[in-house]
Amino acid sequence: MKILAFAGSTSSTSINRELVKFVLKDFQGDEINLIDLNDFDMPVFSVDREKKGFPDEAHHFLKVIEECDAIICSLAEHNRSYSAAFKNVFDWASRINVKVFQNKPMLLMSTSPGGYGGGNVMNTAKTFFPQFGADVKETFSLPKFYENFDMETGVIDPGMLKDLKDKIFNFKNQIGN
Ligand SMILES: Cc1cc2nc3c(=O)[nH]c(=O)nc-3n(C[C@H](O)[C@H](O)[C@H](O)COP(=O)(O)O)c2cc1C
Repeated sequence: MKILAFAGSTSSTSINRELVKFVLKDFQGDEINLIDLNDFDMPVFSVDREKKGFPDEAHHFLKVIEECDAIICSLAEHNRSYSAAFKNVFDWASRINVKVFQNKPMLLMSTSPGGYGGGNVMNTAKTFFPQFGADVKETFSLPKFYENFDMETGVIDPGMLKDLKDKIFNFKNQIGN
């Protein structure tokens, strides 16, 4: 199975990318495409800029989604919403194909250093991604990343780890993996 994975962040030390990489350990038999939003750097979207044409990166983002069987992503939360970097890619892609996620099943996550774990952006995405073609199967939010995650071993808290593993198991079942 082809798994597309990404963090909704361009930080070189992205904690959401760490969470995604931890989850990917449970998909070792699969073909993984872990993309970096830094490779989708585009001008800030505007309807005026759009008239000059679409950046190749917007087409490329849609292409990697088209080529996958399932999506695993974890969104960074900035001011209770998407990071500007993710929103820009999302906006550009949505102008080419409003069904950005092309009916692919998705494991949607978020984490942050705060106690709500990026739950605001995750819930926004859970509510609205389906309008953009995402088939959100499971969601998981990890609060207080630096207390609950070890960079070598992953999620520390046994209850949170069980919750995540259960969701991964359910996601795999639902996608026939
Ligand atoms: C501009 C800005 C706004 C932020 N707003 C929030 C927020 O609303 N909620 C939150 O939990 N964390 C917030 N944070 C902290 C981020 O969760 C933290 O920087 C986290 O590392 C982002 O994820 P990343 O490492 O994957 O980029 C904010 C950080 C920045 C730089």
